[in-house]
Amino acid sequence: MNIIVAADKNWGIGKDNKLLVSIPADMKMFREETSGKVVVMGRKTLESFPNGLPLKNRVNIVITKNKDYDAKGATVVHSIEEALEEVKKYPTEDVYCIGGDSIYAQMLPYCDVAHVTKIDFA
Ligand SMILES: NC(=O)c1ccc[n+]([C@@H]2O[C@H](COP(=O)([O-])OP(=O)(O)OC[C@H]3O[C@@H](n4cnc5c(N)ncnc54)[C@H](OP(=O)(O)O)[C@@H]3O)[C@@H](O)[C@H]2O)c1
Repeated sequence: MNIIVAADKNWGIGKDNKLLVSIPADMKMFREETSGKVVVMGRKTLESFPNGLPLKNRVNIVITKNKDYDAKGATVVHSIEEALEEVKKYPTEDVYCIGGDSIYAQMLPYCDVAHVTKIDFA
């Protein structure tokens, strides 16, 4: 399982539920790397996307404690354990944890590859 993240010099990854900076080349790399694959994210990261919609051409898995959450077509799970069960349906190398902070922290022990974009920004 993979982690994919863009971080600044202080390992900051976002502010006010937005990315710190928008880098088109990094967005393109992210799209190409994850297209056709499985992306696992926290509820706040889903809501940070345009119109709060899941990413196209990918299986989207969203983690929330809210049992009534409608993730507009994404698969909803309610714990890290449930997410780990759900991703067993797919080859582990095709699964990408895409954030945010709380999901990186909890999923890191289960990941063996990290794709890190280091941003020259502080
Ligand atoms: N730089 C990057 O590469 C990158 C990538 C992604 C995101 N980001 C940034 O990261 C920030 C968001 O990170 P975040 O940590 O605030 O939010 P997040 O991880 O995206 O989502 C947090 C939410 O996930 C759910 N959750 C987390 N752990 C859970 C668990 N064990 N069981 C059930 N639900 C759980 C909860 O949803 P409920 O409250 O609904 O229960 C929690 O409020 C934004 O600024 C975003 O732009 C940066």
